[in-house]
Amino acid sequence: MSDRIHTLSGYLYEYQKSVTQPEEFWARIADSFHWRKRWSKVLKWNFEEPDVKWFVDAKLNITENIFERHLFTIGDRPAIIWEANDPNEAGRTLTYKELFHEVNRFANALKSKGIGKGDKVIIYMPMVPEAAIAMLACARIGAIHSVVFAGFSSSALADRVNDCGAKAILTADGNFRGSKKIAVKAVVDEALEKSEVETVIVYERTQQEVSMKEGRDFWWHEVIAEESQECAPEEMDSEDMLFILYTSGSTGKPKGVVHTTGGYMVYSQYSFDNVFQYSEGDVYWCTADVGWITGHSYIVYGPLLAGATTLMFEGVPTFPDAGRFWQVVEKHQVNVFYTAPTAIRALQAYGTEPIQKYDLSSLKVLGSVGEPINEEAWHWYHTHIGRGKCPIVDTWWQTETGGIMVSPIAGITPTKPAFATLPLPGVQLCIVDPEGNELTGNSVEGNLCIKFPWPGMIRTTYGDHERCKQTYFSTYKGMYFTGDGVKRDHDGYYRILGRVDDVINVSGHRMGTAEVENAINEHPKVIESAVVGYPHEVKGQGIYAYVIADLTNRTEDNLMNEIKEMISKIIGPIAKPDKIQFVPGLPKTRSGKIMRRILRKVAEGSLDNMGDTSTLLDPDVVTKIIEGKK
Ligand code: PRX
Repeated sequence: MSDRIHTLSGYLYEYQKSVTQPEEFWARIADSFHWRKRWSKVLKWNFEEPDVKWFVDAKLNITENIFERHLFTIGDRPAIIWEANDPNEAGRTLTYKELFHEVNRFANALKSKGIGKGDKVIIYMPMVPEAAIAMLACARIGAIHSVVFAGFSSSALADRVNDCGAKAILTADGNFRGSKKIAVKAVVDEALEKSEVETVIVYERTQQEVSMKEGRDFWWHEVIAEESQECAPEEMDSEDMLFILYTSGSTGKPKGVVHTTGGYMVYSQYSFDNVFQYSEGDVYWCTADVGWITGHSYIVYGPLLAGATTLMFEGVPTFPDAGRFWQVVEKHQVNVFYTAPTAIRALQAYGTEPIQKYDLSSLKVLGSVGEPINEEAWHWYHTHIGRGKCPIVDTWWQTETGGIMVSPIAGITPTKPAFATLPLPGVQLCIVDPEGNELTGNSVEGNLCIKFPWPGMIRTTYGDHERCKQTYFSTYKGMYFTGDGVKRDHDGYYRILGRVDDVINVSGHRMGTAEVENAINEHPKVIESAVVGYPHEVKGQGIYAYVIADLTNRTEDNLMNEIKEMISKIIGPIAKPDKIQFVPGLPKTRSGKIMRRILRKVAEGSLDNMGDTSTLLDPDVVTKIIEGKK
């Protein structure tokens, strides 16, 4: 494609253009898409409100850009290669033409259930092609999807259904994950005791027993049976909502990040094409789940808009053994492989023997996403998976950014272990000190902000615009605040240092400490709790919970298990603490604020330097907490 960067000087040229003439730059990129009506203006923006509009007044449908835009040339090319959880189960391949027909059939089925433009649809599904079909079918008819990771509990699901006012849930009977068969529809049933939708459509995957409510619940294969494989795309405004994706922040309640159609489309394809340097015929594999933003932008939208072949994997890295990823790479001759540092570290623990059985020579580019990659994991990935030959693209971005923001361009930007390197064209980074002063020049460290809009950015938080303004646009005036700390080294390269707010990153999953605390506090024996992250060898960060509890009639072990159960029920198993310590009190300032800095220090075991504790209401409590640490 013509917008592809080929050289380092090409990157520098494009970057410069994108800063000096952003509207001309993005108009040129957007020209290769199919617009039913062109924009009247490329960009209108104001970071105070915030109010950001890209490709103003333009009309389009994103699925028309995946399918009709190049169906004549790529119709028979594989769009999705699906690899099942069990290596002995045959996978599936859908060509672009087949995927197009499946999307249309399902889009028609949604319409026949009364779902149309502007309706919200929750997708709570395993990693099967139907999850992508569901997303695209919504986009085809202008319905707004909100994918909820299938590991979330019924109560987390109900919260999301209620928050967005969903009209339907698309789900499956069950989910195969490693050696487990997990009930999925049963979780939906439980969620629907606390929420309500008109329609539930159930894809049959595991063939386990499910209950179906007459008039509300329908089987996927039955609803599509009579549907035509043609469905006219709904004409959408560039700023019409494409999807809502819930993510955790520093306050207790997850927020619905809103992405709109035109800008997200342009940004997801542009970033995919350039970062991974995908070439025609390559097989691209991103191991994320469609329940996260990585799955949205780099399993479904980015690759499919680019006409790429995207591999979807249902299983886990260690089933049936720790060689599974590499077996899949060999089997499908994967060329681009994109995963999270936590998976790399988990597999590193098994040594190189599981890798040696497989031929990884098809690999050309490796990617990393979701959390900082430590140097050791970077070198292991580079040496053992990339055989010293594959560039690693360490891609920094967020649910809110919609697409990759800081990353090497594969094979073009010289890499440096643990550095996300340089911003993509269109991304104007800014490092600020705590007062919001921009730190210019190199060899500086501070908070990472972005001072100019990019097309894939968050537009609002669903149903609560003020929250969007407060969370991202109020900390530093006139800038989007990422919540991450960053260092720009002597070469001008960026290294992400991790969150500076009360968000923790556990195995690449983003979690609010307040959200976990709220769940712990639901237990009747719990009086108060404080949760912090601490360095964890495999997960990046582990969850450490300090709990004040009434231990009458309970052993510590009993109560710990009950608390973990409670968290699984309220959020999901991914939020279970790695460590729970019962404490007599929490270190608080005289104004009642918990001093998390101290709790973090204790959790990470750096006990000798507690810093200033003179503002504490009861400094003794710290000694007791240290003494009680196991
Ligand atoms: O702290 C950063 C970390 O993940 C956060 C965003 O999480 P989420 O919205 O769930 O999106 C994850 C996938 C894009 C960021 O604020 N993060 C993400 N990628 C990296 C990273 N930290 C360091 N290096 C990365 N490559």
